[in-house]
Amino acid sequence: MEHEVQYHIGFGKKDLGQSPPLIALISGDPDRARIIAQETQGTVLEKELSENRGLNSYLARLPNGRPFISATSGMGAPSLSIVINELYQVGVRVIIRVGTSGSIQSDVKMGSVVITRAALCRQGAADDIAPKEYPAAANPFLTLALVNAARELKVDWHIGITASVDTFFEGQERAESSANKNLLRHLHGVTEEYRALGILNYEMESGTLFKMGSVYGFAAACICGIIADRTQSEHPDHQAKERAVHDAIRVALRAAETFDKEYMQPRYWR
Ligand code: URA
Repeated sequence: MEHEVQYHIGFGKKDLGQSPPLIALISGDPDRARIIAQETQGTVLEKELSENRGLNSYLARLPNGRPFISATSGMGAPSLSIVINELYQVGVRVIIRVGTSGSIQSDVKMGSVVITRAALCRQGAADDIAPKEYPAAANPFLTLALVNAARELKVDWHIGITASVDTFFEGQERAESSANKNLLRHLHGVTEEYRALGILNYEMESGTLFKMGSVYGFAAACICGIIADRTQSEHPDHQAKERAVHDAIRVALRAAETFDKEYMQPRYWR
């Protein structure tokens, strides 16, 4: 059974060679998954695993030879939950999300990266996995590896709490740029409220990923490039995206490379 091709991600353990990777980097965008495996300096592409349903996955090696999977999670928590479930079934136990995000704090600038240490999880998919009150906390050791990599690479980085929600428009209080002008009452002012609570940014996957990490037993962390400044505008900025995503990828790859083998054991995943 465990060697079967997984239905959604389109590959199985048998496709991963003699020493299957424990580590995966996941991105919402299939193109980013390909760039991580193929085009980032120092990574060596071993093979494309699948393009099933646009969930492009690649087997690659880090500069120190450590194998990893670069996989697409799709957009939002329901798609991510399926991909993570199947990655777990092929043996993955260390997962770094490399995403994009909108800042809600004036000091978290466009083009910088945010490392999430915990999420305010407002996601329906997560409610199928654990109670609402269950903490959405990143793995501290993997998160520290991200911070150390960000410091080493001298990128503009922040660490803090992220609001992880189900929708890009309504849930992140976008009305001007949205087709839906009828924002529900409970969402009016939500960004200001989160800002006052010290939350740094909005994105759409980390909360469910972190809860899955604790429930299933794997190390989960998240780094996002800031591509929108929600203190100024609702719109993502394409120029900022290039730098922010490039830096987030470099940091995630360096963290995956340097992550201490000691912490790749079940006692550190719970
Ligand atoms: N992703 C989000 O979820 N929100 C943003 O503002 C930008 C990227």
